[in-house]
Amino acid sequence: MPNTILVGAQWGDEGKGKVIDVLTSQADLIVRYQGGSNAGHTVIADGRKHVLHLIPSGILHAGKQCVIGNGVVMDPFDLIREIDGLREQGFDPVGRLHISDRTHMVMSWHRALDAADEARRSQERKIGTTGRGIGPAYGAKMGRSGLRVGDMLSPSFPETVEAGVAEANAVLAGWGAPLLDGREIRTRYENAARTLAPYIADTVALVNEADRAGKSILLEGAQGTMLDIDFGTYPFVTSSNPTAGGACTGSGLSPRRIDRVVGVIKCYTTRVGAGPFPTELADETGERLRQKGGEFGATTGRPRRCGWFDAVVGRYAAMVNGVDFWAMTKLDVLDEEPVIRICTAYQRDD
Ligand code: IMP
Repeated sequence: MPNTILVGAQWGDEGKGKVIDVLTSQADLIVRYQGGSNAGHTVIADGRKHVLHLIPSGILHAGKQCVIGNGVVMDPFDLIREIDGLREQGFDPVGRLHISDRTHMVMSWHRALDAADEARRSQERKIGTTGRGIGPAYGAKMGRSGLRVGDMLSPSFPETVEAGVAEANAVLAGWGAPLLDGREIRTRYENAARTLAPYIADTVALVNEADRAGKSILLEGAQGTMLDIDFGTYPFVTSSNPTAGGACTGSGLSPRRIDRVVGVIKCYTTRVGAGPFPTELADETGERLRQKGGEFGATTGRPRRCGWFDAVVGRYAAMVNGVDFWAMTKLDVLDEEPVIRICTAYQRDD
């Protein structure tokens, strides 16, 4: 299989997991390149259910190598939970799961700051985040104060964690939010570092070696184009680049080594959280799509907002991602609709 980037073309939840699963069977190495445990998909393999937020579902396919790329923000406790879940079901990820030493970590205080920040915003300014600490973790990365996976291997890691809690507590106190226990958090991270050490690797080298050896690489994006921090409906977006460009910066594979981009698009539109949604249906048709399509968040269980297919969004996603092939999902949800509407343009005022 040619080296492939897979992106979501709308506001996430396009059904990427299913298409990833098909492409995985043709790939040797699967790289998740951005986002964190805000994403989530449920995979049923051999009749067993797996809920994955960070680990590529390729881990369920024998012999596939999986990478959590440098562009991801990884919550160690979420990852350990996923690894434990896989082990319970008989999968051993050691030797097949590799976490970049450059991946930034979502720390306990990032979650606390995410929740406190949402709580203090006025109703119009609330983003409706997943509460997984994503914004504050990427904020720390860009502010050059973040902690990376490689830092877990440093002897001074426990002290750094405790100092991080103290700094965050100063902010949380200012916002009137509950404070965190530095000692307890330090111990939890010390344990997490021991558990995750076998998975930490220089994945930039690993990915490029695989490429040079002629292996097929699948770069999988989470969320979608309209949630992109640069190209989405800012500020009602996530804090990373789900678009195709993010696949290179989030993995270390050169843009010149990408052969094709696959866009996943649902035949109607959904969105979770706040922000503009031109084709939204706040009526019984929207409710019917929600029920028939099972449109409830995989991570938070929130009902998704539903609306008609928006071709303006589709064209825009085709442009910014350079989509070569489309996978359109969930057509059967529209089977019994007497009328199917498609938005082809927006009109403002006159
Ligand atoms: P955050 O990524 O948790 O900061 O949330 C920012 C916005 O992105 C919110 O509107 C979330 O609902 C949305 N979001 C984040 N991850 C996903 C996803 O995997 N699917 C759909 N929406 C998402």
